[in-house]
Amino acid sequence: MTTMEMQQEILRIKRKKNICILAHAYQSQDIWEVADYIGDSFGLCKNAQRSDAETVLMCGVRFMAETVKILSPDKRVLLSHPDAGCPMAEQISREDLIEIKKQYPGHAVVAYINTTAELKTECDVCVTSSSAPSIIRKMPEEKILFIPDCNLGSWIAKQIPDKEFAFIHGGCPTHARITKEEVEAARRAHPNAKLLVHPECRPEVTALADFAGSTTEIMTYAQKSEADEFIIGTENSIVQHLQFSCLDKRFYPLSKTCICQNMKATTLADVLHCVDGTGGEVIEMDAATMDAARRSIDAMLAYGG
Ligand code: 13P
Ligand code: SF4
Repeated sequence: MTTMEMQQEILRIKRKKNICILAHAYQSQDIWEVADYIGDSFGLCKNAQRSDAETVLMCGVRFMAETVKILSPDKRVLLSHPDAGCPMAEQISREDLIEIKKQYPGHAVVAYINTTAELKTECDVCVTSSSAPSIIRKMPEEKILFIPDCNLGSWIAKQIPDKEFAFIHGGCPTHARITKEEVEAARRAHPNAKLLVHPECRPEVTALADFAGSTTEIMTYAQKSEADEFIIGTENSIVQHLQFSCLDKRFYPLSKTCICQNMKATTLADVLHCVDGTGGEVIEMDAATMDAARRSIDAMLAYGG
């Protein structure tokens, strides 16, 4: 089967079965082309709620499929590949967090959405990279315990100096690989390019950027900018997507190693197997976990990003 034949078959089955396909921005171009909605973590949350399809297929990683299920417990939610987890989401267990919270009385617990459903049950508010600064500014609490991404946390804290932040060791192994030396080398190679990075990068990398933001914000910035060249400091699929959408501009990866193997686990064939009923993983969670985890996600959506 060619890529196009496979895509046509996916579109035919998905229409027949009323399946909504959500794809995170880090998915490959062939998957983007069959998706109903593509976006960053915050956009995916909002669109998961809006869809009236009976089945939602999340092409991304496990915590994203869990979030869709929590927001739409009556829907059948499929994760595109059973092995697509996010290592950061599993860095702190619920039991760890219960202990950690005892050391931070009076702190509101703010969790990056890249956390397991279990961990979310112990958190007050969830945030995504695009919604975090505005949500935390609106929260009445002065003291914030931010988990699990210290890099994202310190980027947020710099923007909100009037609040007190505490962090627990954690972060994205993919973005944390990018070094300051790679920034210097990329700047030397492309002196006229704008440097756009994800705030999951280390603070010394983010500090050197022209812009830091979520995957969607990086793409929007590059598309709207009058500059012609961009160095992209996030998962390298974004370099390819931007090159597709802006042929007259040039995009360079900040680091050849910024590849998330979990996001890459899903192939177009997996998507076909999911829609034809022979692949993927149906997400199941007990009602108590979903109800408790939903409070922090609802709080995020209520604050509005
Ligand atoms: P955003 O899509 O919210 O920018 O998150 C990036 C990410 O690493 C998702 O796993
Ligand atoms: Fe998790 Fe990082 Fe991969 Fe995103 S890029 S899914 S945060 S490991």
